[in-house]
Amino acid sequence: MHMPAIYPDLKERSVFVTGGGSGIGAALTEAFVKQGANVAFVDIAETESRALADRMEIEHGRRPLFVPCDIRDVAALQAAVAEAGRIFGDISVLLNNAANDQRHTVESVTPDYWDDRMAINQRPMFFTAQAVLPMMQRLGQGSIVNFGSISWKLGNGGMPAYTTAKAAVHGLTRGLARDFGIHGIRVNTILPGWVMTERQKALWLTAEAEKEMLAGQCLKIHIQPTAIADMALFLASDASVACTAQEFTVDAGWS
Ligand SMILES: NC(=O)c1ccc[n+]([C@@H]2O[C@H](COP(=O)([O-])OP(=O)(O)OC[C@H]3O[C@@H](n4cnc5c(N)ncnc54)[C@H](O)[C@@H]3O)[C@@H](O)[C@H]2O)c1
Repeated sequence: MHMPAIYPDLKERSVFVTGGGSGIGAALTEAFVKQGANVAFVDIAETESRALADRMEIEHGRRPLFVPCDIRDVAALQAAVAEAGRIFGDISVLLNNAANDQRHTVESVTPDYWDDRMAINQRPMFFTAQAVLPMMQRLGQGSIVNFGSISWKLGNGGMPAYTTAKAAVHGLTRGLARDFGIHGIRVNTILPGWVMTERQKALWLTAEAEKEMLAGQCLKIHIQPTAIADMALFLASDASVACTAQEFTVDAGWS
């Protein structure tokens, strides 16, 4: 049974998660709810997100705030951040988790498709950070976690726009860490390995791909979303008070 650490400083913290309704994001929402934090999340998957909020209330007695939002709409995303701040107080933890790893061939990519991939996988991270900055400045502290991927480190093909966006996360994290650090705000990147979400299992987990994964990983395990949430809890809490501008890889030793 998974027994996460308890970080007392996360209790009653105001936390904002992008894509918090399913996959790793749902594990993030649940992990922070279980710490006693006030979690707000945006997602486009409305049915799953409402079901998650209901389940959190029943199982943990704490209902996260779900704001339906397509993160490609920067104004709507920043409005969601503002709404979360009004309801739960200034946001002190921002988890830039939402992404879409849709496969695409080189030949099929148009300028519009390329821009759309960046609008999902890269651009929102900057504009959520911009929106929480005044809140974190008022608090005198904050933690921002941007979600990268080991896919580009492994040299994976079949999704060049996604791997480009995910590599760019490192530059964003390090640049913002410098600008935000003077306000006591930390910015880090988590690089998940291959995490066994329902979506990954349904779309990509063939016997052959599983064999390749287990051969590549030092640890012969199937990484669960909770393993990523555990790292996010650490990076959000004061336990990582001196960690910023860094990449934290949770991939069972694959990359
Ligand atoms: N699962 C993995 O194996 C894996 C591996 C490496 C990196 N990652 C990274 O971890 C993070 C989470 O991955 P995941 O597998 O849970 O992803 P996912 O695709 O399963 O879920 C992402 C969430 O974001 C939401 N979302 C997608 N597009 C959106 C949009 N336009 N507006 C609002 N919400 C939107 C989805 O509905 C979903 O709830 C991503 O940044 C991903 O790149 C995941």
